[in-house]
Amino acid sequence: MRTQVGIIGAGPAGLLLSHLLHLKGIDSVVIESRTREEIESTIRAGVLEQGTMDLLQDVGLGNRMVAEGALHQGFELTFEGERHRIDLTDLTGHAITVYAQHEVIKDLVAARVAAGGKLVFGVSNTSLHDVESTKPSIRYEKDDDTCEIHCDFVIGCDGSQGPSRSAIPEAVRKDHQRLYPFGWFGILVEAPPSSDELIYARHDRGFALISTRSPTVQRMYFQCDPRDSVENWSDDRIWSELHARLDQADGWRVTEGRIFQKNIVGMRSFVSNVMQHGRLFLAGDSAHIVPPTGAKGMNLAVNDVKILAEGLDSFYKNGTEDKLNAYTATALQRIWRAEHFSWWMTSMLHRFADATPFDQQLQVSELRYVTSSRAGATALAENYVGMVGLSH
Ligand code: PHB
Repeated sequence: MRTQVGIIGAGPAGLLLSHLLHLKGIDSVVIESRTREEIESTIRAGVLEQGTMDLLQDVGLGNRMVAEGALHQGFELTFEGERHRIDLTDLTGHAITVYAQHEVIKDLVAARVAAGGKLVFGVSNTSLHDVESTKPSIRYEKDDDTCEIHCDFVIGCDGSQGPSRSAIPEAVRKDHQRLYPFGWFGILVEAPPSSDELIYARHDRGFALISTRSPTVQRMYFQCDPRDSVENWSDDRIWSELHARLDQADGWRVTEGRIFQKNIVGMRSFVSNVMQHGRLFLAGDSAHIVPPTGAKGMNLAVNDVKILAEGLDSFYKNGTEDKLNAYTATALQRIWRAEHFSWWMTSMLHRFADATPFDQQLQVSELRYVTSSRAGATALAENYVGMVGLSH
């Protein structure tokens, strides 16, 4: 099989890139190890920054997001029994949309299928070849056949565990990582929203977050031991933990409902400071991971492929590789901003087992600063809605 751009991974990065390239008249093939049903149902995060919302609308993918997503103009921070609102729109002129990642995936798959795009699901043993030459290829197995895609570029959108990043030799890689000694316990609940806006809570028992999926399905999280197991958490135990961390003296309480999904995710920060090797480019989680506290993961993936699509467009239109060769440096500006913001939100809101009383007072003081000073609140808000002023 021959195409211009071979894309490994049908997550938000791979699918959106394929769609953006199609709009520019560039041919691509997307391969994915999971099935279409799996990628359309895997529960991930769900906050779209202003720039992500704008891009999806500009490229014809905004209809369901606008109709079914929830536009939020602020969120709440709670700590020490206090409730504070961060008014994103007043502070920045922008907003965010809560719209689940798998809904974005459904919209992207539908658009690719409608345009006759080539998507191959359920592949295995994927490997990358000759990425240092101008004729790279991707090999994989599908239904006991060995297949090969010959292309001009390989784009690795295959997440942190996929084969693409390891196709860059150790000697040229520059990886940066920080692990956090806690995880998030996530639940999906059949209930009306507890709150009109997201609530991020710092509590002596640990962090908690109220988010939403729809008028009838809510998403909630609380900090836990990453080695804990969902079997240790009965519904009653989960509700009493959420009430302890979130309920307010003014009478506001978390609304309970039927819990129909429980999961635990670990938390880490990771950046591959090399995102290009010859004709191989990494985008999304294959190149960087953020802890979910800053709600940045999918937005970074979208930004990466926006830059790549522009670079590939100028290659095919003008034969120039300057933009492509600047990809790593351009993308890393926003990536490191989001890495810092996600680390900052995580550090400010979580309980660290080794924190001294001094450290705890610093956390509270920082929260008071971002909730009482307009300058402090603006710093938080402009990062949360996505640094609209950054060129990429
Ligand atoms: C979510 O709705 O899953 C969500 C929202 C905000 C976050 C992380 C996850 O910071």
